[in-house]
Amino acid sequence: MKHTSPAAKRTATPFISDVKSLRERARHHIEQGAVSETYIGDVARTIEILQTVLATELVCVLRYTQHSIVATGIASEGVKAEFAEHAKEEHEHAMAVAERINQLGGEPDFNPTGLATRSASEYSTGSDLVTMIKENLIAERIAIDHYRELIRFFGDNDPSTRAMLESILAVEEEHASDMLDLLTTHGATKM
Ligand SMILES: [Fe+2]
Ligand SMILES: [Fe+2]
Repeated sequence: MKHTSPAAKRTATPFISDVKSLRERARHHIEQGAVSETYIGDVARTIEILQTVLATELVCVLRYTQHSIVATGIASEGVKAEFAEHAKEEHEHAMAVAERINQLGGEPDFNPTGLATRSASEYSTGSDLVTMIKENLIAERIAIDHYRELIRFFGDNDPSTRAMLESILAVEEEHASDMLDLLTTHGATKM
């Protein structure tokens, strides 16, 4: 059996503040709103990262919206509805991220200038249904990779931002799965 020294045990136990200290700390720097003294991360860096996530979500809204309107061809109706549904969900993600930036004392960046550069995913249009589905699947995979890394990055330093990204990630995984199903339906799983 592995022996753990008393010192190691002490350092492994998370520190919990007493009620009096919690109450006192909360009264300091009230102008910082949700950012309190237990915020371990770098707030400015968190805001900067979330601006990238916001841009990514906004580009996804635009791409899915465009696809939901221009998609044509046999069996396009169901696909259009799916694109429109995803656009709505990407909008919800963008709003959640913008709210979090605001909570942290930042100003969410909705400026269309440079939006595509700030975003991790790309704004790609396609001339046919299969190309559109593929482009959306690729964009989802980019977002999934990006958010997984960010979730690890935030870890325990900013649990609220991490939890928000975790809930967004779960939806992006569903989106990717939906796009793959559509590709299979259209017999085009080979890239
Ligand atoms: Fe999203
Ligand atoms: Fe998505």
